[in-house]
Amino acid sequence: MAYLQTDVTKVTTRVLQNMKLHGEKIAMLTAYDFSMAQLLDRTKIDVVLVGDSAANVMEGYKTTLPITLDEMIVYASSVVRAINRAFVVVDMPFGTYQGNSKQALASAIRIMKETGADAVKLEGGEEVLESIQRILSAGIPVMGHLGLTPQSINKFGTYAVRATEEDEANRVIHDAHILEEAGCFAMVLEKVPASLATRIASEVKIPVIGIGAGHGVDGQVLVLQDMLGITQQFKPRYLRLYGHIGEDISNAIQQYISDVKSVNFPNEKEQY
Ligand code: KIV
Repeated sequence: MAYLQTDVTKVTTRVLQNMKLHGEKIAMLTAYDFSMAQLLDRTKIDVVLVGDSAANVMEGYKTTLPITLDEMIVYASSVVRAINRAFVVVDMPFGTYQGNSKQALASAIRIMKETGADAVKLEGGEEVLESIQRILSAGIPVMGHLGLTPQSINKFGTYAVRATEEDEANRVIHDAHILEEAGCFAMVLEKVPASLATRIASEVKIPVIGIGAGHGVDGQVLVLQDMLGITQQFKPRYLRLYGHIGEDISNAIQQYISDVKSVNFPNEKEQY
C-alpha cells in the first residue's frame, strides 16, 4: 500500500484527519526523553505521545497518579527538542484538569508554552467536557482518552479490560460522541473489546487510536519501552515485542563490567 502521508514534513491534526479519511493507519508511540525521541525522529512515526506513563516507566511509580505538571513539562520539552516531523501530544497529569476548567486551561497553556508541543491529551468523557471545551476555546488541540483510563485506577480497582458489559460499553460510545462533538481532534481507546472499538471508529469522524482495542480502529499506540522489551514484567495480551533491547542492554553492561575487571578496556587505541 502507498502511504499517502509519508512525504509530509510535519504531521498536523489535518494530516491525521486525512489519514483517517483515506484509511491510512496512524502509528503512535510514547517518548519521554531526548535520546529516544531522536531515534523516533529518524523514522516516519506519525504521533509521539509524552504519556503520563512516564510515572511508571521513568519514575517507577505503580500508577500514573503521582506525576506532576512540572515533571511532564521537563519530559515533553526534551522530546519536542528532538522531534521534527511527528505530531507531539502531551498527557495532562492527574489533578491538573478534573473538576476545574480554569485550572485545566492554565495547565494546558503551560504545556503548550513551555514545551512547544502540538496538543494535549486528557482522560475521560462527559465528566471533563467543560475542561475540554475551555482548552479548545484557547485554540489548543485536545486528544481524548476513553476505556481504561489509568488515572481512574482507584475507582476501577483493576487494569482489566473495560466496557465488556453493555452499560459501560454504551457509556463509552456516548462519551466518544461527546468528545467528537466538543471538537477533540482524535481519541485514544484503551483496553476495550475490539468489536466496540471498531464500532466507535466507524461512528465518529475523528481518528481513534487503539491500545488493546483491536485493529478496526484508525491507528495504534504502544509504550515505546514496552514494545522494545525494555520494560520488565509488563506483558499484557495486546503487547507485541518488537525487540529485546532490555536484554541487549544488560548483556552490554555485563560485557563492560567484565572488560573493566579484566583490564580489556580501555585498550591501546582507546587511550591518549
Ligand atoms: O500514558 C500513556 O502512555 C498513554 C498511552 C498508553 C495511550 O496514555
